[in-house]
Amino acid sequence: MPVSLRHRLLWWLLLPLAAVVCASGMMSYRTAQTTADLMQDNALVSSARIIGEDIDWEDGDVSVQIPPAALELFESEERDNVFYRVETGGHRLLSGTPDLPFPRKPSHVPTPYDTTLADGRSVRAVAYVRDLYDSGRTEQVTVIVAKTEASRDALIGQLLRPHLFGEVLTLLLAMLFVYLGLTFELRPLMQLKDDVAGRNPSQLEPIRADRLHFELRPIVDAINQCVARMREQATVQRQFISDAAHQLRTPLTLIDAQIQFARQRNTADAPLVEALAGMQRSSRRMSRLTDKLLLLAQAESATPSAVRGCVDLVAVIASVLEELIVFAQSRHIDLGAELDDALYVSGDETLTTALVTNLVDNALRYTQPGGCVTVVARRSETAVRLQVIDNGPGIPAHARARVFERFYRVSNGTEGTGLGLAIVREIAHRQGGSISLDAGEGGVGLIASVDLRLGRAGPASGPFDVDSRRAA
Ligand SMILES: Nc1ncnc2c1ncn2[C@@H]1O[C@H](COP(=O)(O)OP(=O)(O)O)[C@@H](O)[C@H]1O
Ligand SMILES: [Mg+2]
Repeated sequence: MPVSLRHRLLWWLLLPLAAVVCASGMMSYRTAQTTADLMQDNALVSSARIIGEDIDWEDGDVSVQIPPAALELFESEERDNVFYRVETGGHRLLSGTPDLPFPRKPSHVPTPYDTTLADGRSVRAVAYVRDLYDSGRTEQVTVIVAKTEASRDALIGQLLRPHLFGEVLTLLLAMLFVYLGLTFELRPLMQLKDDVAGRNPSQLEPIRADRLHFELRPIVDAINQCVARMREQATVQRQFISDAAHQLRTPLTLIDAQIQFARQRNTADAPLVEALAGMQRSSRRMSRLTDKLLLLAQAESATPSAVRGCVDLVAVIASVLEELIVFAQSRHIDLGAELDDALYVSGDETLTTALVTNLVDNALRYTQPGGCVTVVARRSETAVRLQVIDNGPGIPAHARARVFERFYRVSNGTEGTGLGLAIVREIAHRQGGSISLDAGEGGVGLIASVDLRLGRAGPASGPFDVDSRRAA
């Protein structure tokens, strides 16, 4: 699976942030614990002192009354168990639980310590020793107060909750903003991706870097340098094909003229005449191929500014029909047109003429004698749709995409170069249009539809049909 830059950046930011939040959470826990311990120990010390204060001599002996205030200190919702033990130096229990353990070193200063009762419950305890004097006698009394720790644990929770809430909220907000920020900031990169991905192979203009982040510019510059080299390479190649085709034209014309001359001179030798006729067919075929190659090279090298002119499509169609009418008649095909008035498309006139010529030529060439070919051009809000409709054999659905490939031909029975539709598509794309092939009505024949952009000078006029120039 490809690595997502957004996820990687998110991890880079969120992992350290989560670590910081964890560390801060731990510190908050320690602080809450210390505070709760301090409060618990203070309460235990206070309780122990209150009890200690109430130890007194009674009839020459030490005795204690446990004041309720000493135990009320620990009242809480958690209902902790409180234990106490008051014992004389001679280990005489004055009051309380006898199994409450002593600290390691009882002292006159109240000492908090952790301990465990006989039944296994752990408690926090405070012990202190008080000296009692009476008529020269001294008695040491140890007071121990202990309690279970439920209220202390609850206090830790109470102290910690707002901190944890704040920290989790910070983390969530950070995640949200980082995610939003990355989505927002990565948009130019996504646009760059769309720009590069959406290009057709012949579109070799540099990528615009002005809306991009400073950090992305070097990448775009590198891509643009690469594009420039590719463009240079493509130009050199196209120029070579164009030059070669051009160079081939003159000798081919000469050969044709020479064969023509030889044919006229040698009418007696039938095999030779046959051979010369074959040679002439080949040379003419080669001549047509050269013309098509030249046209394809021209279409491919057309610059955007060259195809931004305004072409009168009605005039172009008229001239093409005029040119091909003899061919249509020779094949006994009914050639006609249905055109909206005043159709102006954006493009180059020579290329648009080549586009229409190739489509009509195909329709005439592949439709059986007696067939019908109609050129339809209609104007919509934003485009002009040109259709060349015939009732010939059509193109099988599986071959419709492939016929645009160079040199691809469906049947090799007829003469052709396999470049016509490649040229048509190249011109349509260059002029900002598109082409599609569909079967005709009832699956008969072929409809070649080309959508062309409206020319800027196109005057707005309502559509009406002109069934004109019907030939044959
Ligand atoms: N109007 C049409 N009717 C039937 N087949 C067609 C039509 N136009 C094109 N084709 C098929 O598409 C193939 C490619 O056409 P094209 O690129 O013009 O090359 P070419 O005409 O030189 O063979 C043709 O060989 C032909 O089989
Ligand atoms: Mg053709």
